[in-house]
Amino acid sequence: MSFSNLFRKKTLASILQQGGDGEHSGLNKVLTVKDLTFFGIAAILGAGSFSSLGSAVFSGGPGVVFLFIIVAIACGFTAMCYSEFASRIPVSGSAYTYAYASFGEVFAWLIGWALLMEYSIGNIYVAFSWSDYFTSLLDQCGVHLPEFLSTSYQEAKHATQGESFIAWNNAPIIGGLKIIFDLPALLINIGITFLVYKGVKESKNFSNVMVLIKMLVVLMVIVVGGYFIFSNDLTHNWTPVNTEGVKSFMPNGFKGVMMAVSGVFFAYIGFDAVSVLAEESKNPQKDLPRGMIYSLVICTIVYILLALVLTGAADYKLFEGVGDPLAFIFEKAQLNSPVMHFLIAICAVVAMTSVMLVFQMGQPRIWMSMSRDGLLPKKFEQIHPKYKTPGFSTILTGLVVGIPIFFTDKTFVLDFTSIGTLFAFILVCGGVMLIPRRQKEKGKFHLPYINSKFVYPVLLIASLTIVHLNFPTYFSEIFDFSDSSKIAVNIPLIVFYSLAIIMAFIAFIKDLSLIPLLGLISCSYLLTGMTVTNWTWFGCWLVIGFVVYMLYGFNNSKLNKSKLKATIED
Ligand code: ALA
Repeated sequence: MSFSNLFRKKTLASILQQGGDGEHSGLNKVLTVKDLTFFGIAAILGAGSFSSLGSAVFSGGPGVVFLFIIVAIACGFTAMCYSEFASRIPVSGSAYTYAYASFGEVFAWLIGWALLMEYSIGNIYVAFSWSDYFTSLLDQCGVHLPEFLSTSYQEAKHATQGESFIAWNNAPIIGGLKIIFDLPALLINIGITFLVYKGVKESKNFSNVMVLIKMLVVLMVIVVGGYFIFSNDLTHNWTPVNTEGVKSFMPNGFKGVMMAVSGVFFAYIGFDAVSVLAEESKNPQKDLPRGMIYSLVICTIVYILLALVLTGAADYKLFEGVGDPLAFIFEKAQLNSPVMHFLIAICAVVAMTSVMLVFQMGQPRIWMSMSRDGLLPKKFEQIHPKYKTPGFSTILTGLVVGIPIFFTDKTFVLDFTSIGTLFAFILVCGGVMLIPRRQKEKGKFHLPYINSKFVYPVLLIASLTIVHLNFPTYFSEIFDFSDSSKIAVNIPLIVFYSLAIIMAFIAFIKDLSLIPLLGLISCSYLLTGMTVTNWTWFGCWLVIGFVVYMLYGFNNSKLNKSKLKATIED
């Protein structure tokens, strides 16, 4: 085995011939820029805003708005890199396909493996959040689902109070095992799998209607919530008193804001999912970039306004453990609007259904691309003769999302999803720096080239100076090697600053393109918000992926087979 074979690359021409012209893919080419933007919003606006926003506001206070802006900037750079790739390689497979052309096979495989976090594991979080709102909606309609049928086993096992605790105590026992699982989460997964299996056209119409409904209600929250804040004179909630008795927009400091990174980043995941629909788009080279960027911009504006409304409507400390923050602010103790409370519960159910739909459509399309390359068995690329969808992969996705619903919980899947997705984003930005520059072509997206040679080092020095002047002890605390417990906590930041400095040298020598470089650095910074435990889990996941690749993909890869064939013919 030669080590260099791990990095064998596909040429752009071969990728395009395999699936990009639509003739070969067998999928229906029906999606327009409007549909793609709607798909983007359908994927982005969901559990992140309806559920994890609560804990984000609790840890960051009103200052969490800054994190939404920082993450939007990181995602903006990344979206431009995705767009560049989507314009050059308009085929299904997203970051996986892009990595195959830039970094080589083993990285492509690892990205495909990591994207399972984003598309499937992320959907488990959405399914759990969907269930939270759905059961509360049922309750408002007078129907009560037993707690042991609406809680995850892990959550119930570790609960010391609340509904999960009730579930643990009241669960029926069969064969010595407590029967506790989240039935609505399971049912929505089965429903979505069925819909995706039936085809993109039906799903497209369904999705567009859901996006319109959720946009409407989110706008209502902003307008009505904003009205209440000003008419009830609640603007003082934007500057709560911190532990030192000082009024502050960031009551827990920037550290508190950064603690919310998993939840806030999760809220943005989804713009990239648009790229897996390349082969179902009418004009992918122009429309995919637009769809991604439009949806990202719209959602960023919505998030900033939502975060301001939430933190204005109630003291940020009240959001501790609140899983339905948008409905929460309209409860009696806060803004007291039962109509809004009910409407939002309905909307949340709709919003999260559309998120699940997009991701459940994305995963099979990534597997399909991997199977075409011989990295997965042929079954994964089979297109259903009647519905024209990847049937086997769709059902398998349903199982990958459905089975863990029985034994995971929300916190675990949230962190895992964010770290896996950031990993993929970083490789996409890095990949754009590796591919050769090209001439601008009319009618196609083109990433502007700005030489980072001097700009990046200057930006880096300026940012480090600003941080140092504003927080004089910041760097000395990070690089304090005298306390071993602190070193472990600071490892992600130490790695990040080392990377940022090394990249300044590489940028200077290699004239790197500025936009992908800033994407890579900003996404790497977001990774510093993840704990070492998350890193360990993710590392294990990548090692398992590598072993699977060596056992199957390495030998069965089409690139390997065509090379062997050429050797025999010679
Ligand atoms: N951004 C998506 C959501 O918030 C994953 O549900």
